[in-house]
Amino acid sequence: MDTTATPRDTASFVGAAEAQSDVGTGLHLAIRDGGTLAGVIGYRRSEPPANLDIGYWLGDGFEGRGLMTMACRALVTHVFAAAAAHRVQIRAAAGNVRSRAVAERLGFRLEGVLREAEHLPDGWVDHCVYGMLARDWVQLRGLRSGFSSSPDPEVPGRLCTHQPGHAQGRIASACADDAAIDGEMAAYFEAQAPEYDDWYERRGRYANPQTDAAWFDELARLHAVVRAFRLSLPGGASVLDVGCGTGRWTAVLAEPTPFAAAGLDRSSAMLAEAQGRIARLGLRALLVRGDALDLPFPAAAFAAALSGFVFEHLSADHRSRFFAELRRVVRPGGRVLILEGRRGAGHTSDVEIQSRLLRDGRHFRVRQTLFTAAGLCQALSPLGPATTGETANFFVWAEVIL
Ligand SMILES: C[S@@+](CC[C@H](N)C(=O)[O-])C[C@H]1O[C@@H](n2cnc3c(N)ncnc32)[C@H](O)[C@@H]1O
Repeated sequence: MDTTATPRDTASFVGAAEAQSDVGTGLHLAIRDGGTLAGVIGYRRSEPPANLDIGYWLGDGFEGRGLMTMACRALVTHVFAAAAAHRVQIRAAAGNVRSRAVAERLGFRLEGVLREAEHLPDGWVDHCVYGMLARDWVQLRGLRSGFSSSPDPEVPGRLCTHQPGHAQGRIASACADDAAIDGEMAAYFEAQAPEYDDWYERRGRYANPQTDAAWFDELARLHAVVRAFRLSLPGGASVLDVGCGTGRWTAVLAEPTPFAAAGLDRSSAMLAEAQGRIARLGLRALLVRGDALDLPFPAAAFAAALSGFVFEHLSADHRSRFFAELRRVVRPGGRVLILEGRRGAGHTSDVEIQSRLLRDGRHFRVRQTLFTAAGLCQALSPLGPATTGETANFFVWAEVIL
């Protein structure tokens, strides 16, 4: 920071940073080592506003410990997940090897060199421009965690994957009575609708102080995956959320408005919750009651589809109907993103018939397949080759191009 040499310069930097944060055009954060200020990292929006410039600075005694790489990784994940960024850029003076190494370590692509872009006390210096797209960030990180045996470095430790409040009892590992269980599951989702989001928000009996921090971290990552999926579609593309439940993912697909999003569910209580969410957020989406195995849409109606935590509940027989319907309503070359719960060390079999409890004390049998990334890839193979990713404990996803 050659332009910030006096306390007055620092005060003016802080004032400008506060002003940007007030109007949402930027965010600047302190990097602290214990109680000591070690550096600064932040972003500014450029044109178009979904493009961001990230800048950082680290004090002399704090270099060489990976602090900036860690801070930058967290900020980039944040801007893709929470600041609706599409492209992030880092500019570094060509001779600033440490600064360039941060971008390179995180997988940014060197997109060009701006000749003599900045005047420093020693003269003009070139700037290296590094870029990262939201979809590349997700893919890079998803693939790394999906195919490495080491836990994701951003999530401390590996936790028990049993989601408290779910799977209160595991009755059997094989599906005996598919039709009866399907009926029970339909009743369960209808009755569960008003409390469904407690599961996402870790409220009530779903709360677990030991795992909640990791849960929210991983859920933010899943949001980033869905947002990147949506952002990678051409403007105006129509997207269907199959088994949309309370509309968490429909809402992500519905924004910004040029996207035509539709949510389908067979539970009217779930659709009522989804309707409330979409209205609260001031979004627009078509919400339709229907069966994922017999979709009420014409052929090739959608450019893409997403389905969250639905495939894992289907019987083996129903999977092929689900695939056939996706193939019919999504155009050839269109994309399908499937989100599921991740199989962990605590799960003893691939398919469980769980006994799930609702607030009113009723129990329902629910079939759930627990997937690893490789297992999901294999299960989706009739649909097409999949690119998969997973978080350390809770979620797994796969994208297929039809
Ligand atoms: C576990 S919830 C997931 C909701 C939402 N996709 C999410 O990720 O939060 C499963 C949803 O799929 C719906 N569902 C299950 N089978 C279905 C089917 N055959 N047709 C339509 N919806 C179905 C249920 O009603 C329920 O809302």
